Amino acid sequence: MRYEVDFLVIGSGIAGLSFALKVAPYGKVCILSKGEAAEGSTRYAQGGIAAVMYDSDSFDKHIHDTLVAGDGICDREVVEMTIREAPDRIRELVQYGVNFDKSRGSDRFDLHREGGHSEFRILHHKDNTGAEIERGLLEAVRSHPNIELKEHQFAIDIITQHHLGQRVTKHTPGIECYGVYALDCRTNEIDTYLAKVTLLATGGMGNVYTTTTTPIVSTGDGVAMVHRARGVLADLEFMQFHPTSLYNPAEKPAFLITEAMRGAGAILKDFKGHEFMHKYDARLSLAPRDIVARAIDNEMKIAGVDHLYLDARGIGKDELINGFPTIYAKCLELGINITKDMIPIRPAAHYQCGGIKVDRNGESSIKHLYAAGECACTGLHGGNRLASNSLLEAVVYAHNAAMSAINQISQSSQNTPNSQIPDWNAEGMVLNEEMVLITQTKRELQELMWNYVGIVRSDLRLQRAFDRLNLIFRETEDLYNRSVLTEELSELRNLIACAYLIIKMARARRENVGLHYSIDLVKDK
Ligand code: FAD
Ligand code: SIN
Repeated sequence: MRYEVDFLVIGSGIAGLSFALKVAPYGKVCILSKGEAAEGSTRYAQGGIAAVMYDSDSFDKHIHDTLVAGDGICDREVVEMTIREAPDRIRELVQYGVNFDKSRGSDRFDLHREGGHSEFRILHHKDNTGAEIERGLLEAVRSHPNIELKEHQFAIDIITQHHLGQRVTKHTPGIECYGVYALDCRTNEIDTYLAKVTLLATGGMGNVYTTTTTPIVSTGDGVAMVHRARGVLADLEFMQFHPTSLYNPAEKPAFLITEAMRGAGAILKDFKGHEFMHKYDARLSLAPRDIVARAIDNEMKIAGVDHLYLDARGIGKDELINGFPTIYAKCLELGINITKDMIPIRPAAHYQCGGIKVDRNGESSIKHLYAAGECACTGLHGGNRLASNSLLEAVVYAHNAAMSAINQISQSSQNTPNSQIPDWNAEGMVLNEEMVLITQTKRELQELMWNYVGIVRSDLRLQRAFDRLNLIFRETEDLYNRSVLTEELSELRNLIACAYLIIKMARARRENVGLHYSIDLVKDK
């Protein structure tokens, strides 16, 4: 089937949905989501969204905290713009129907604090903020007459001049996006979606690693699509590992223990129940994430154990049960009463700071192609994202991208060669009947990334990862070239592309900065 719309949105998390709501008054919008609409990192966000809402805090302080966490390589102008825009975007979320908690008996938002923040400035909805945001935005989208939301539609590749038979390299000037090819996961047909403007809002790539807090849909599809289309990507060496995922090895994704719990007073302890953060940073358990995750990794390696503890018992029973109901219930299910027992934790891949390079309007290096949310690299996070700045970045850039896209289609000088764009050609392909070829390769990929390209890296580990990835890449391309395309195979190719980009950028980064940390670079100093 062929479809034509004004605005095509790939992804139904906070970035895709808020962009769709903004552009909908100006044209026909279609949102494609590869699973159920609500599935994505957004709904799992616990801590909340950072913004300066009252005079007790200041933009300057939030800007300073963001720059410090980013380890000196944030884009300062982007940081200032994002943080100053934050209150307006928060008020819009509230208008869309999102509820944030208020302080008892008052009209003021109840604010939490997380690692790296010098003030209490995290708006939240108990400990399930993301689920509330996703609910509010989805309800608004579903009731908008100009928006069509299509679930189980897997975007495979963006359509460019390459599909018109032209040779496109990363040096080709004026690469343009005309839409995407997408697999209808229910009929197994590959459809052609043509659009004046396309937004990638495909989220993160946590599933490149064995242990991740991100859901199974986070397979770096947007980044891989742009890589294949020869667009510009940046900062992919900066994979953020969250210090405290619940240690429960069989569970995927790993369940998060929000940093807000440390903000409320919970303390990291080693395997014997002793505090250890004083050895690493004066901010103790509330140091920025890169520092805390490395400290935990180091303590685990020294003691030869696979988890440490978070001790929340000092917070008080009432606050634990009422303020963190999701975590309390989850732990209780596993026999851990967090008012009495320490919580077993370990780090997990959590957030990709880099991605599709975009300008301040969210526009990528490919014309008519925008990106927002976790798949985009705006310059806000630098070497390490400050907690709760991600949902904020997503709404700010969805807004900027929407304003620019509306402007772009109103000028409409775009001369899309729609009739010349061919449909997907699946001729001569056979059905891959051995799923093990995909599942085993995915496991190998995730393990090699976890062990060689994780929290602590070295030149030798990166070289080994690169060599092994090369073999995995060749085998998978061979499978891809002869098989009917499936969602699983497409995701595997995307994960391989993301792993390649992470390793390549990690090898090119010759200094320890933010989340990129190599033992060889320490020695060089
Ligand atoms: P997502 O919400 O991940 O949505 C991506 C969408 O794209 C999904 O709908 C997915 O199905 C779709 N998609 C992907 N590929 C394709 C494809 N090929 N075709 C079609 N559709 C596709 N950040 C904060 O600021 N505060 C927090 O408290 C916080 N807590 C977090 C807790 C957890 C457990 C996790 C995992 C992350 C947390 N983050 C937090 C990070 C934040 O939640 C994410 O960065 C943010 O939600 C990303 O939003 P998004 O719209 O970019 O992507
Ligand atoms: C958390 O609640 O600890 C996660 C916050 C974030 O990833 O920004």
